Amino acid sequence: MTVLSTSPSLPSLSSLISGPALLPIIQADSAAQAVQIAKAMQQGGISAVEVVLRTAAALDGISAIRQQCPDLLVGAGTVLSKADADNCKNAGAQFLVSPASTPALLQAMIDTGLAMAPGVSTSSEVAMALEMGLTELKFFPAHLSGGTEMLKALSGIYQQVRFCPTGGIAQHNLADYLSLSNVFVVGGSWISPAALVKAGDWQQITDLAAAAVAVAQRCKPVAALQRRA
Ligand code: 3PG
Repeated sequence: MTVLSTSPSLPSLSSLISGPALLPIIQADSAAQAVQIAKAMQQGGISAVEVVLRTAAALDGISAIRQQCPDLLVGAGTVLSKADADNCKNAGAQFLVSPASTPALLQAMIDTGLAMAPGVSTSSEVAMALEMGLTELKFFPAHLSGGTEMLKALSGIYQQVRFCPTGGIAQHNLADYLSLSNVFVVGGSWISPAALVKAGDWQQITDLAAAAVAVAQRCKPVAALQRRA
C-alpha cells in the first residue's frame, strides 16, 4: 500500500494497513463479542478493524483484540473528545478515527502520537485538516455527502489528500469507492451487521469479509494478503 504523509511526527494509517484496503467496524456489547467479530473478520482476510466507541465495552474490546488477535491492526472509531482519544490510546488502540473534525479534537488526536483519520464531509473541513498537517481523512457520511462524485471533485483540488470513505457503503458499491485514486481504504458496518452479531453467526461475517476482500484485491491489489486461521 502506498505510504502517504500525514503530520510529520505521526505514522500514517495507510502505512500501517498491510492487507486489503478495508477497515470494517466492530460494535460489540462485550469484549468477548468484539474478539469473536474480529476473529471472524480476520478469517475472511481482513487485516485492520475499527472498534467504535458506541458501547460500554468498546475500550475493553480494543484491549482484548490486541491481546487475542496480535496480527490484526486495531483502531478506535467514533472518537469525539480528548478523553476518548487518550482512553483509546491507553486501551491499546493503534490508530484513531473520528466522525468529525474540530481544531480541539484534531489537536487531541495528534497529541496521542497515533496514526489517525479524522472525519470530514466538506471542502472547508479538508482545508482545516490540511492546515494541521493531516492528509489522510475519513469522508463521512460518504454517501449522503456526495459519494464518489464528491470525492472526484475533491481530488483535483486536494491532490495530496487521501480518504477513507464510510457511511452508506456496502458490497454493492464498494468497488465504486475503491476504484478512486484518492481513496486509500474503505470503512463501514456492512461486514458485521447487528443481526449477525446478535445471532453469533460468525461464519456469515467471515463470508461477508471474504466477499469484500475479493473486491478490494481486484480494485486495490495487495501483494502480501494472507488469510489467517
Ligand atoms: C461509521 O462510523 O463510519 C459509520 O457508522 C459507518 O456507516 P455505515 O454503518 O453506513 O457503514
